[in-house]
Amino acid sequence: MCGIVGYVGSQSALDVVMAGLKRLEYRGYDSAGVAVLADGGLAAAKKAGKLVNLEKELVDRPLPAGSTGIGHTRWATHGGPTDANAHPHLDNAGRVAVVHNGIIENFACLRAELTERGHDLASDTDTEVVAHLLAEEFSACADLAEAMRQVCRRLEGAFTLVAVHADEPDVVVGARRNSPLVVGVGEGEAFLASDVAAFIAHTRSAIELGQDQVVELRRDGVTVTGFDGAPAEVRSYHVDWDASAAEKGGYDYFMLKEIAEQPKAVADTLLGRIDAAGLLTLDEVRIPVHELREIDKVVIVACGTAFHAGLIAKYAIEHWTRIPCEVELASEFRYRDPILGARSLVIAISQSGETMDTLMALRHAREQGSKVLAICNTNGSTIPRESDAVLYTHAGPEVAVASTKAFLTQLVACYLVALYLGQVRGTKWGDEIQAVIRDLSQISGEVERVLETMEPVRELARSVASKNTVLFLGRHVGYPVALEGALKLKELAYMHAEGFAAGELKHGPIALIEEGMPVVVVVPSPRGRSVLHDKIVSNIQEIRARGAMTIVIAEEGDETVVPYADHLIRIPATPTLLQPLVATVPLQVFACELATARGNEVDQPRNLAKSVTVE
Ligand code: F6R
Repeated sequence: MCGIVGYVGSQSALDVVMAGLKRLEYRGYDSAGVAVLADGGLAAAKKAGKLVNLEKELVDRPLPAGSTGIGHTRWATHGGPTDANAHPHLDNAGRVAVVHNGIIENFACLRAELTERGHDLASDTDTEVVAHLLAEEFSACADLAEAMRQVCRRLEGAFTLVAVHADEPDVVVGARRNSPLVVGVGEGEAFLASDVAAFIAHTRSAIELGQDQVVELRRDGVTVTGFDGAPAEVRSYHVDWDASAAEKGGYDYFMLKEIAEQPKAVADTLLGRIDAAGLLTLDEVRIPVHELREIDKVVIVACGTAFHAGLIAKYAIEHWTRIPCEVELASEFRYRDPILGARSLVIAISQSGETMDTLMALRHAREQGSKVLAICNTNGSTIPRESDAVLYTHAGPEVAVASTKAFLTQLVACYLVALYLGQVRGTKWGDEIQAVIRDLSQISGEVERVLETMEPVRELARSVASKNTVLFLGRHVGYPVALEGALKLKELAYMHAEGFAAGELKHGPIALIEEGMPVVVVVPSPRGRSVLHDKIVSNIQEIRARGAMTIVIAEEGDETVVPYADHLIRIPATPTLLQPLVATVPLQVFACELATARGNEVDQPRNLAKSVTVE
C-alpha cells in the first residue's frame, strides 16, 4: 500500500524515481508525486490520480535537474485522493519533503501542537505533520538522519518515511516501523523503495531494514541505526528476480502475463524440493523434525486469496497428517483470543510478506509460544523475517493487483507442507503421499494444458458481461475454488459474485437463482470420492430447474455432467486434493476477460492496492 522511492547518485533523480514509481504503481494509484533537490533548493510536483497525470504535469511544468530525489504513489488513508493530499508533503519553508506509507495514529495531537507553534498545515493527511516536525528538529541539529530519529520516537502507528532536506543535498533518509522499506546499493548510488522491483533495473544488491531503524543514504554508502541512534546490524542479500519479470513482456496486462506464467511458477516452486527417491526435502523448514512430530494443531492465517489457499490446505493437511487444522482470516485472529500453545504450528500465507493483518496475527501466535511457518513470495519481507521458518514460493514478482500465480504457488507450498508433515510423521497414507508427490511433479504440464484451451472461456466471459450477478459453487476443495472465483470477479469485473458450498445452496442461497443467472459449478472428480461428485451433479440439476445458466467445470471424460451443462469447461484429471491447481485457472481467465469486456482496469482495479500494509 503506497509505493515509495528514494534515490541519491549521479543519474537524473527524476528519471530514476519516476521509473521506480511506475513499477510500484500497483501499490496504490490514488495520486503520485516527486521531489528533487536542485540548485540549493527543493522542487516538488504532485497530482491526484494515476502516475500518468503526474507525467503530464512534469511535461507542462518541468522540475530542475537534480541527482537526489524521492517519490510516492498513494493509496489514500487519511484525506481523499486530491492534489493537496498527494505526497510529498513539505514544511512551510519548502526545505523538507517527506513521503510516507502507513498510518500515524497520534497525528491529530501532533498537528494540534504544531498549529499552536505557528505551523500552517495545508492537507488532511497524517503525513504532513512529519515534514513540519522534521523541519523543527533539523533546525536544531542540522542532520536529517538525527532529525528523523527524533521524530520517529514521537510517532505512533505503522510507517515508512523517506525524506530529503535542501540543506543536505546529497542525502536521502528513510525510516521504518511495521511497513516495508528496502535499500538498494549500487556503484556510487543508492536507492530506497517499498519493493525491490523499483530498483532491480539498477542494482541487485539489497539490504533489509529491520523494525525501528533509520537509514541514511549517500552516494558512497549507507548507514543504518536504530531509532535510538545505536548502529544496527543489517542483512544484505542478492535479488535474483529477473528485471524483465516486472515488465509486461508483450502482454496487454500484467495479469494476463502472470496467468500465463503459472506453469513455470508452479514448477519453480517444486524445484529442488523433491529428491530422486520421490521424497520431500524441505531443508528451509528449520523447525526440527522432532518438533514437527509433536504438533497437535495447525492454524493457518491469511487474507483474501491467500486465505483461500489456506482453506484448501486444510483439506490436505487434515487428510494426509490427521492433525486438526483451523483456517482463520488474519484480520479476525488475534481479536478472538485463539487457543494456541507450544505444540501449535501457525502457518502465515502471504504473497507480499507485508500484509499487516497477517503480520499482526503471526506476532500474536509467537507471543503465545507457537512456532510460525511463513509461506511467502517476497524475499526479505517482514512476514518471513519475523517467522521461525519460511517456505518461499517462486512465483517471481506479481504486479497485477489480482493475485493469480501467487495463489497457485501458495497451493503448491501448502501441499508440500502437508505432504512433508505426513512424511515426517509417517501416517497411514504413506503410499498415497508418494503417489501425490509424483502427481504434483507433473502438475505444471496440466496447468499448461488448461491454458491452451481457454478461448471458449474468454468467449463465454464476453457473452455474460452485461449480467449483474454470477454465483460460484463447489464442494470439498472445490468450495474454496468457488470463493476464489467469486473474489476475482468482484475485484476485477465489479460484479456481484458469491461463492457457496454447493450443499449449502438449499439452506438459503438458492433463492437468489433467477432465469439466465450464470452459475459456475466446480465439479469434483467422479473417481475417488464419487458420492461427492454425484451430489454436485444433483445440485446442478436443482439450479438448472430454476433457470440458472450452468457453467460447469469438470474433469475430462466426466460425461455425467454433459446433459446439465449449458457451458462445459474441461480440466485435466488430477487427484482430488490437487484439483484446485487446474480448476482455478479458467476462473482467473474468466474474470480477466470479463473485466476487459466491461472496460475496467485489469491490473489496477478501483479502490484496491496490492500490498495491504494497514489494518
Ligand atoms: C486478491 C488479492 C488479495 C490478497 C490479500 C493478501 O486477488 O490479491 O486478496 O491475496 O490482500 O495479500 P498477501 O498475499 O500479499 O498477504
